[in-house]
Amino acid sequence: MDIDRRVFIASLGGTTAVSLLSDEAKADALEEYMSARLNEAAAAQSAPAAQQFPSAAQLEAQIETRSTRRGVGNLFTARTGNVKRLDKLPSNPRLVDFFTMRFNNTSNHCLQSATKALRSGMSEEVVLACLLHDVVQEIIKVDHGWWGAQLFEPYISEKATFAIRYHQALRFYADPANGYEYPDLYRRIFGHDYRPEPYIESTYQMVRKHKWYGEARMVTVNDLYAFDTNAQVSLEPFVDIIGRNFKQPKEGLGYDNSPVAHMWRTIERPDAPL
Ligand SMILES: [Fe+2]
Ligand SMILES: [Fe+2]
Repeated sequence: MDIDRRVFIASLGGTTAVSLLSDEAKADALEEYMSARLNEAAAAQSAPAAQQFPSAAQLEAQIETRSTRRGVGNLFTARTGNVKRLDKLPSNPRLVDFFTMRFNNTSNHCLQSATKALRSGMSEEVVLACLLHDVVQEIIKVDHGWWGAQLFEPYISEKATFAIRYHQALRFYADPANGYEYPDLYRRIFGHDYRPEPYIESTYQMVRKHKWYGEARMVTVNDLYAFDTNAQVSLEPFVDIIGRNFKQPKEGLGYDNSPVAHMWRTIERPDAPL
């Protein structure tokens, strides 16, 4: 069990109070504190989901309490305070430039999931799909699997595109045999009683029978535990994989006249008025 030292000391009345305790009394206090935390954790686990997480209706009722919609991309809204001025990208921007200068809210999670895929020996296509799977949330969150696949489709393999597109639907369906359990995170953000819409259900039914199901499923598996606030991540281990698997246009992303060039320009210049 991880103990937050400051919280523990505060629970005893602060450092001065602790300094007055004998070593034996400190040990007893620590044991009592750990037992209490353990009981709390057990109670939280056995509590019905309805007590731990909001319902879909409660989340729906929050809509008019916000100034922006839940699906707005990270680049267009500040979590607190005002948005910040963005650094100018080089004139022929590459994927790595977007990673370091625009994917500021999603890169840590994506790098964590790609690192897990790399360490568990997955194919370069799966590693690349993990690396890219959520970065489109910088411009939009709704249906991010489809948006993300579209953003990358001209530059990566069909298989990696498939994995990005369909991780969105697969994440709602457990597959314990492949190491994927339905996460509490989704009970929290979608509601404990959320049921995926029919288009998600039918997409899932199609993908589970597809020859590339495994690739899309592995994106969800590496997605699950990639929210470690202490993780040290770097793009460096992925530079060669990007070089081999991402067709970087020589004009720069946003300037190659591809069908998705406008999406890259939007990420580059989210402060442009029109
Ligand atoms: Fe995702
Ligand atoms: Fe993710």
